[in-house]
Amino acid sequence: MKFFADTANLNQILEVHALGILDGVTTNPSLMAKEGIKGEEAILAHYALLAKEIPGDISAEVIATDYEGIMKEGRRLAKISDNIVVKVPMIKDGIKAISSFTAEGIRTNCTLIFSPGQALIAAKAGASYVSPFIGRIDDIAGDGMNLISQLVNIFTNYGFGTEVLAASVRHPLHIVQCAELGADVVTCPPSVILQLLQHPLTDIGLEKFLADHKKLNG
Ligand code: G3P
Repeated sequence: MKFFADTANLNQILEVHALGILDGVTTNPSLMAKEGIKGEEAILAHYALLAKEIPGDISAEVIATDYEGIMKEGRRLAKISDNIVVKVPMIKDGIKAISSFTAEGIRTNCTLIFSPGQALIAAKAGASYVSPFIGRIDDIAGDGMNLISQLVNIFTNYGFGTEVLAASVRHPLHIVQCAELGADVVTCPPSVILQLLQHPLTDIGLEKFLADHKKLNG
């Protein structure tokens, strides 16, 4: 399973990258705004920086919601670097644009997926990734993990090349459950990835090993 960092914060991304376990990055307009990155030039420059620093796929989201606008923005984003993936919302013009991007050889991530039907349409249009938002489904008393299971089954049934990229991941159990269900990718805040490292018994065990060593060796 691939791990993507769901943030535009370069320091946080590099902290996980330094462990040698990071496969890519996803951003969205909210995450870019959170870092105070505004204005077209600054946004494009930040994507270029992320694409240079991280050797995996970097999802860069379009702001336009009409077909022509999505195509124009997406082509500009794709030109930045080969590892930029154009993130497109799950709307009718978005699906039309994903079909066109696919024909042009531009890779896409269809975002804001909340149902199996939406994911099926995005896969048929040739999306490289679909992003089901599991945390937001859980937020409204739904079952985000059930959606992951449905998407993995559907894509396996028909041999779609589209990868299931679990998004809106909120805690380490989400990551483990995604791994059990066969999601291709999880994207989550770097802090959640780092939480996977922790276990109190590891801390207690290490403390005891070091104390026993010190008793004999000073
Ligand atoms: O990857 C999508 C993500 O950024 C949304 O997460 O926690 O705002 O639902 P969240």
